[in-house]
This record gives sequence, structure tokens and C-alpha cells, in this order.
Amino acid sequence: MSDEKAPASESGHYMYGGGLDDGATGQTFYLETFGCQMNDHDSEKVAGVLLARGYRQVDGPEAAKVILYNTCSIREKAAQKVFSRLGELRPVDEQERKWIEEGRLELRSADPKSRATGGAGSEPQSGGVRTRRLQSAGKIIGVLGCVAQQEGEEIFERAPWVSLVCGSASYRKLPQLIAELEAGNRRVTGLDTDTDETFETEITRRDNPWRAYLTIIEGCDKACSYCVVPFTRGPERSRGSASILEEVRRLAEAGYSEVQLLGQTVNSYADPSARKMRFSELLTAVAEVNGIRRVRFTTSHPRDFGKDIVEAIEARQNICDHVHLPVQSGSTAVLRAMARTYSREEYLEKIALMKAARRPISITTDMIVGFPGETEKDFEETLTLLDEVQYDSVFAFKYSPRPNTPSLKMADAIPEEEKGRRLAILMDRQREIQRVQNEKLVGETFEVLVDGKSRRENQWSGHTSSNRVMNFTSPERELLGDYVQVKVVSAMPNSLVGEMLGR
Ligand code: 5AD
Ligand code: SF4
Repeated sequence: MSDEKAPASESGHYMYGGGLDDGATGQTFYLETFGCQMNDHDSEKVAGVLLARGYRQVDGPEAAKVILYNTCSIREKAAQKVFSRLGELRPVDEQERKWIEEGRLELRSADPKSRATGGAGSEPQSGGVRTRRLQSAGKIIGVLGCVAQQEGEEIFERAPWVSLVCGSASYRKLPQLIAELEAGNRRVTGLDTDTDETFETEITRRDNPWRAYLTIIEGCDKACSYCVVPFTRGPERSRGSASILEEVRRLAEAGYSEVQLLGQTVNSYADPSARKMRFSELLTAVAEVNGIRRVRFTTSHPRDFGKDIVEAIEARQNICDHVHLPVQSGSTAVLRAMARTYSREEYLEKIALMKAARRPISITTDMIVGFPGETEKDFEETLTLLDEVQYDSVFAFKYSPRPNTPSLKMADAIPEEEKGRRLAILMDRQREIQRVQNEKLVGETFEVLVDGKSRRENQWSGHTSSNRVMNFTSPERELLGDYVQVKVVSAMPNSLVGEMLGR
């Protein structure tokens, strides 16, 4: 699993179309998503549920009757962010009410873009009118996702203005919970994880017009010792292959050309239906659907990564040549403490399968530095793994102790400062690897799905099959959603720069 977006493009800002729905007459909702692609996609489904009930989506919390935060708790910082957002919605107190009446306090919009400054409080501004952020009176505030599951009803204690708390394993109940709120219930919760069903809805609001996410397996059974996901998302549940394929066909008919199969451990997929499709067979079947030009999948777990997946990629040009295979550490001792179920050598065997493939496969990973007990030698092994594998991209994190996880109680915690030092060393080393790797691609031509247009003229961006970001020039007027051939003219550590050759 990965809870980070691909590295940001290195030049300019790119946007794609697809504004918010309007025209419906019902209530309004604002939905903000934190964390991984699974959360992004869950939010698309949550939005689908609300739109089907006649709600209209708005792009800021002040205009919304219902404010929902779909949250992430993978690291402490992510969880803290949610509580600071909730703090911004604190109702106006007696004192503040008086100030508002006297014209000494104004409510300021909680513009997501200007959040970097100012806090949730109502500190007076020198000499002028005080301002404070939005408040929650008259609104329904809901916390969804991993923080909801993790903190449960505690959230009502910490932020009593919240009225809905629902973890992802209970999203099937969401329409019912929303109905209860509409009927005037003050507080509702959905916190069960003992479900064997997945969250499927008739209507999913997809935010990207070309790439459709599709969850094929939810939850996680792997129990890595540092990770909250098995608690927040519950046990593994796979969706039937026939229903997945039916949805892919509908997506293709609706004009989506790229599908991304999602799961915390996507390759642990276990078809619950009589067909008993293996993950690699499902990949191939999805790739065979008419109109599907790209199939991606994330995140793979090394334990369940076999040759059959590499063979599927080799056999089908439209299965993307990119595998995200989190390693977490290069030291077998640390991997054992993490309960990752493989050694450094076993992981390298999986890498060797990919390196031996008939077409190059781009490999990316996640790493954690400063796990309890990680010695300087262990860390050194993580660095040599970088050299050995030559990843195309690495998401690296400082170990963050999380509630309920076995590693919380492990001895030999690494000081924050030392974690920071190791992270910086790792990132420097990897940046240099990527710089050299990407340099080698200058002169090559890639097919790019164009998904961004810069404000600067003739500047476009997109992704290669290997998921590299390509910024390129083309005088064409409309390219969004097209597949074009782009020649690399220069390279940066996190992106390529190219010129369009043709379609
Ligand atoms: N501390 C730091 N990083 C973590 N991850 C998961 N749990 C933790 C934690 N407690 C990282 C892993 C995972 C990625 C999504 O987040 O590297 O692959
Ligand atoms: Fe967390 Fe490990 Fe499961 Fe990934 S495989 S979600 S790191 S427990």
C-alpha cells in the first residue's frame, strides 16, 4: 500500500478538467480526503452515495451543509492533521458570539489553500478586527476512514461538534447512517470491522476522467508489526471476479481507458467465486476488455508476488510495466522485527524476476527508517539495497509509533533526530540514483497518457506506462485524455521532459 501520491511534477502546476456537479436541488456536501489511493477511491464512492440521494458537492466547507473528512492514520502526523481540521470547525463560544455582535470578530473562510497560516483559535489581530475560521453551527460534521476506525467514539469527546464517525469497513452502512442523520439523529457511528463484504455502490463519482480506480480487495491480513491498517480496515475481503470484470466493461464503455486495481495487498487477491481466478489471471482478463489501454495495480506484497505476475506483464502490452513493491527495510533482522514474512534475499529474488522480464519493468518501493532497534549497520543495508535494486522511485518515512501495533512496545526506540538524519541520507542517495537512471532515458520515446495542461502555453504533462511523470511541449490545442508519443529531451530526478512526436 502507498499513502502518498506520485512525486509532484517538477515544473509548473497541472490541472485536469471535471468540475463539481451542480444543478441538483438538495443538500450540499464537502468531502476532503487524506491519505492513500484507497481513500481517494472510497471518497469517490461516498460521493456517489450522496449524489444519488440528491446532494450536491461543493468545493469548500463554508457552503456545505455536510462536511466529511475521509482520514488517514498511517502515521501520527496524518492523524494529527485531521484533528487540526476538526478544530477549525469548533463552534463559536459565548465570548466569540459577543465579539461578533460587537463587530470585533469576523468568521473567516476555511480556505484549504490558505491553511498554512493561522490556527484554529481566535487570536486578536493587532489593532483590527479579530478573525477566526469557519464554525460548525447548523452543519453535519463527519469523520470517515482510518482515524474514525482507530479513535471511534473518542472523536465525539475530542470534537463534540462531530456527528458521524464511520470506518471504511462499515461504508456499506453509510446510506443508512446518512438517513439517520437526516432524520435528526445527533450522533451515528459505523465501526464494525467483522464484515466479509466489500463496499460496492451503484454510483461512483470518479474524479479522473480517464483513470478509474477499482478496489478488488479490501483490508489486510498481513499484520506487519508497525501498521494500523489491519485494525482500521479490517481483514482481507476480495470482490468476485465476475463483478470486477463487469465493472471494467462498463468503465470501458463509459470512456475510461486506464483502470487501476487497488488493494492494500492487491496481489493477495483471492477470488471468492467458483471461478477462483488468480490475481495474474484477473490482470490478464481485465487487460483483455475492449477499450482498456492501461491496467495498473497497487500495492503488491512481496510474499504473494510470483513469476505469474511478471509473465502476465510480459504477455500483455497494456498491463503497465510498473510494480510498486514495498520493501520497508534492507535488513533481514529489521524485516523480521517488522513481521514482513520475507528476508532481504527473498525480496531480491522477486526483484530478479522483474529484472529478467522481456520488457523493462519500473520498480518503486516504500521504506521506513528508524524502526525500533534499527542499528547503523541495518540502515547501511537499506542503503545498499537502494544501490542494488535501482528503484525508479522510493517513498520513505520515519517510523511512527502507532496505537495498538506490536512495535509500539518494542525496545530501543530511535530518537526523532536520528530518524531524520537517516531519512535525509536515504533520500539523497535515492535522488542521485533517480537522476542517473532518468538521464539514461534521454532520447527514448514513450507513450504518454496526457492528464495535465499547464498554464504555460504548449506545456502538457502525463504519465508513461511505467508511471513516470512526463512534462512535454506540443502546439496542439487539445490533448487531455489522449495517448501520444513523446521523446525525452532531458531528465530530472522525479520527472522527464520531452517533446511530442505524434499520436
Ligand atoms: N510508521 C512509518 N511508516 C509507516 N508506514 C506504514 N505504517 C507506518 C508507520 N507506523 C509506511 C509503510 C507503508 C506506507 C504506506 O506507509 O512504508 O508501505
Ligand atoms: Fe500494513 Fe503490512 Fe498490511 Fe501493508 S501489508 S497494509 S504495511 S499490515
